[in-house]
Amino acid sequence: MKGLWDFSKDLKIKTRVRSAILRWYRRNRRDLPWRRTGDPYRILVSEVMLQQTQVSRVLQKYPLFLKRFPTLTKLAKSSRADVIRAWRGMGYNNRAVRLRQLAGTVSENFDGQIPASIDKLMSLPGIGRYTAHAVACFAFDHRVPVVDTNIQRVLGRLFNNRKENVWHIAARILPKKHTYEWNQALMEFGAVICTARAPRCGECPVRRECPSAFRAEIRTSLKNTNEPGRYGVPNRIYRGKVVEILRSMNGRKSISSSAVVRGLIPRFSKKDHRWFTKLLEGLRRDGLISMKKQASGYLLSLPNS
Ligand code: ADE
Repeated sequence: MKGLWDFSKDLKIKTRVRSAILRWYRRNRRDLPWRRTGDPYRILVSEVMLQQTQVSRVLQKYPLFLKRFPTLTKLAKSSRADVIRAWRGMGYNNRAVRLRQLAGTVSENFDGQIPASIDKLMSLPGIGRYTAHAVACFAFDHRVPVVDTNIQRVLGRLFNNRKENVWHIAARILPKKHTYEWNQALMEFGAVICTARAPRCGECPVRRECPSAFRAEIRTSLKNTNEPGRYGVPNRIYRGKVVEILRSMNGRKSISSSAVVRGLIPRFSKKDHRWFTKLLEGLRRDGLISMKKQASGYLLSLPNS
């Protein structure tokens, strides 16, 4: 086990970190709607939303989505366009398509019951390792570690001189009891204290245990300069805008691609043509739009299945 950190040798730190973070959480936890339910469907929807959207935004959209699709069966029976519409304001619209697919799969293959096993959860559309573990823990009270970007950052900073995989660290520090609370606590702690750009080390209850405390180099920029885009704007933003335009055409079913692109790039030129067609094809591949070839360009709509 050379190179791996043996927690048993460091029992004191492990215990101190756990109890300090749990104590902090019990005093500071936010009252979030997905912490008030045990319904696997509601928990799964929240976790999919929280994968890539801030808590403040999810708080606005989550109740509306659940009002529109109160059960997995309702979601499974809805049209793709309806789900994409209900996803408005959340970003990363692929998730809406996959969530509806997931509802269909669970209805057909799992008798409408969201499975509790990590393997089965991970076989579902849109569910990766993080979300599978989150649902197993938060909906089914399984004693499993959860690692999202917040937790990865917290554990990385606390144990940063050890090159161990963060999932292993998360598993080793997992308490025997109160696993749900512990995983929520780590997440909350990462969101509120151990933040990405400006961590509040001065208020941190484990700063004495933390080798990264007050270190300037952890205040890194999150800017991803490799992201593909056009005119300094990531493609992901253009994708969102295309879907937003289709969503907002009250009553009208379709719109020409040239009208859409004029809304996105005011001085659209021939040079942009290939890039834009590729962007549209990507959206079609992801099931977010329908495209019908016209004499020039395409007629675009939300998918009608
Ligand atoms: N981010 C992802 N899952 C979360 C949760 N359950 N509570 C708060 N933030 C989260």
